[in-house]
Amino acid sequence: MKNKINNKITKCLFPAAGYGTRFLPATKAIPKEMLPVLTKPLLQYGVEEAIEAGLDTMAIVTGRGKRAIEDHFDRSYELEHQIDGTAKESLMTEIRDIVHACKFSYTRQLEMKGLGHAILTGQTLIGDEPFAVILADDLCDNNDKSVLSQMIELYEKYPNKCIVAIEEVPKQDTNKYGVIAGSEIENNLYQVNNMVEKPDPKDALSNLAIIGRYILIPEIFDVIKETKPGKGGEIQITDALLTLAKQGKVLAYKFTGRRFDCGSIDGFVEATNYFYGKEK
Ligand code: G1P
Repeated sequence: MKNKINNKITKCLFPAAGYGTRFLPATKAIPKEMLPVLTKPLLQYGVEEAIEAGLDTMAIVTGRGKRAIEDHFDRSYELEHQIDGTAKESLMTEIRDIVHACKFSYTRQLEMKGLGHAILTGQTLIGDEPFAVILADDLCDNNDKSVLSQMIELYEKYPNKCIVAIEEVPKQDTNKYGVIAGSEIENNLYQVNNMVEKPDPKDALSNLAIIGRYILIPEIFDVIKETKPGKGGEIQITDALLTLAKQGKVLAYKFTGRRFDCGSIDGFVEATNYFYGKEK
């Protein structure tokens, strides 16, 4: 139907093509998204968060050497046959339920040209609708409502706006994140008017750092196509979002919950201890 706009978010994009060099040699043959915190790979935590937020289509941008991701979100007949009816069967329940509950689609990013480029690569899986993005190495936890659920609720209130999740970080860490400036329009919600990728602490606009949860409108794809390489010579989603922010289309949400930077060894160990403590 002409002019039909699908405004309900059903898809979640997972950029998962990076090399994970910080975790070498572990990531030589294993995708970094498959590194486990306790018994679950990082990516599975992300998929569970998306499901909890009501999404049922997982669009994963992979790259060479990432086949283990597809195998994880698939049936494993031989293994299932072996353990069915044994005490171990329950260990597979969660992942089986996930595989049944949602659809998975994949595309490969041929060259690593930055997060913006990875998201653009996913356009073929997303189409012309708003969508969520989860960076699986930012592992989030909230006993009550997941970060993505909080953001989906906000999107329902502010349709057709992009939303980035933010948290306050120590000023000396701004060079690890996209950083925003804006005016608070509601408790914990900012209208973004400027954003910079990984600024030097001395130049940072604020200490409000973007973490790996985004709601994006389909217009972002055309904007990314026009976005020149930025920090590190890569096409940055932060730069593309700045174009939309200047049109008043980007909100930043200071979420409730805990977030672990599992892209760093310290954050990974912290997450492991935290989830271990929670399970005991
Ligand atoms: C990416 C984004 C950055 C954001 C961060 C969150 O950086 O480019 O803006 O703050 O994710 O984790 P990366 O960590 O991939 O270098």
